[in-house]
Amino acid sequence: MSEYTQIFKGTAFSSKSSQEVQILKDYLFCINADGMIAKTVAPDHTDYQKLLHTYQGKENFHHLADGQYFLPGFVDLHVHAPQWAQAGTALDIPLYDWLNTYTFPIEAKFSDLQFAQEVYEDLVSTLLANGTTTSLYFATVHKEASLLLAKICAEKGQRGLVGKVVMDDPEQNPAFYRDADTQTALADTEEFILAVKALAKSTKQGVYPVVTPRFIPSCTNGALQGLGELAAKYDTHIQSHCSESDWEHGYVQQRFKKNDAFALHDFGLLGDKAVMAHCNFLNDEDANLFAETGTAIGHCPISNAYFANSVIPIAQFHSKGVDIGLGSDVSGGFSPSLFDNVRQAVMSSRMLEDGVDATLPAEKRGVPNARITINEAFYLATAGGGESLSLPIGRLQENFTWDVQIIDTKLSSAKLPIFNDHEDLSDIFQKIMYLVRPENIREVWVQGSKVHERAK
Ligand code: GUN
Ligand code: FE
Repeated sequence: MSEYTQIFKGTAFSSKSSQEVQILKDYLFCINADGMIAKTVAPDHTDYQKLLHTYQGKENFHHLADGQYFLPGFVDLHVHAPQWAQAGTALDIPLYDWLNTYTFPIEAKFSDLQFAQEVYEDLVSTLLANGTTTSLYFATVHKEASLLLAKICAEKGQRGLVGKVVMDDPEQNPAFYRDADTQTALADTEEFILAVKALAKSTKQGVYPVVTPRFIPSCTNGALQGLGELAAKYDTHIQSHCSESDWEHGYVQQRFKKNDAFALHDFGLLGDKAVMAHCNFLNDEDANLFAETGTAIGHCPISNAYFANSVIPIAQFHSKGVDIGLGSDVSGGFSPSLFDNVRQAVMSSRMLEDGVDATLPAEKRGVPNARITINEAFYLATAGGGESLSLPIGRLQENFTWDVQIIDTKLSSAKLPIFNDHEDLSDIFQKIMYLVRPENIREVWVQGSKVHERAK
């Protein structure tokens, strides 16, 4: 039993399936030197008392106070790190105009490494404080600043998957913000991949390079082809935007006479380690292709309300066996919190199911069976994110990483409305999901190390 470096005791919530949340009441979580959950022990297990006897009172024994609970750390599948500098602003115009008017100018400023450092340090700390233990990031076109983001994740203890963004088409991107040319874009990407792989050797929680064509409209065929080849050569993750809005979806149809999914597939950009943001306009064949190739959807419900011209039928795609996780899409989504996105995912799905135009009769208003439950949205933010990235994260079970948030429901400044000492734990879970604020997240751990502790 001495092989465990730390033992945690407390009640935890973790997805058992996409619909069911398992309540691990008063469990012991035994963590090994690699920061993995080596064993979970229920109170009625024969080892429980032995473990308590061995570890209780020692420095490496941690137990939760009354009213505190463990949740898995969240996995954010879609963050534009530079856009943190404009979060909450500029949400009043359509996607194409938003990119050109606000977003490309702010991203262009990340050629300045000092500015990049200031924004990226603040963002990574903010995400950790919001319970996000793993993030899949778009940085900018700049190789150096993108590497800086990976270094900041490594230092602050977040599991970061980082992409240097490729946008090389001079017809589609402004002169002040694009890759110099296709060859440079590919050479910079390859150097970036190698640099992040080198950094990963000394990073316990992992840091990963991601091949990142911004989206089809910003890339030439040569870049898309070359990026597919680089992803295969180095076995990297891949990310892009896919079938997001009427305009973007229509542009790809015009250029390739097919939808984004099949176009990306032609360039070798789908696969088990690929995550495509949004995907609102996937048709049945696109969704089947995602399921067959193991490609995941990064669902960004807040952002979609502004830019996607639609609500994605998440329940339908999930039932086809497509991997799905949740993304904040900062700053198309204004909030860095996946709690906020969990709530929006449920609400948007309910509005899709019922419909929104009150002048229509009820039976014509919505899309049947479109709703997802809070349990399912929690799954997307945790286990679904882990499956999407093909990493052992997002569940509090053996052979998964010890990535957790410690939630305090009794904090005097942000107390949850729990008035019964014996309240049903599934009700407490729902109150946590709907009502937690950053103040309630007292500690955050990644791969067995504490990476955030909230001051009073
Ligand atoms: N499509 C291409 N770039 C972006 C971006 O930065 N945000 C969103 N939401 N969609 C995009
Ligand atoms: Fe995005």
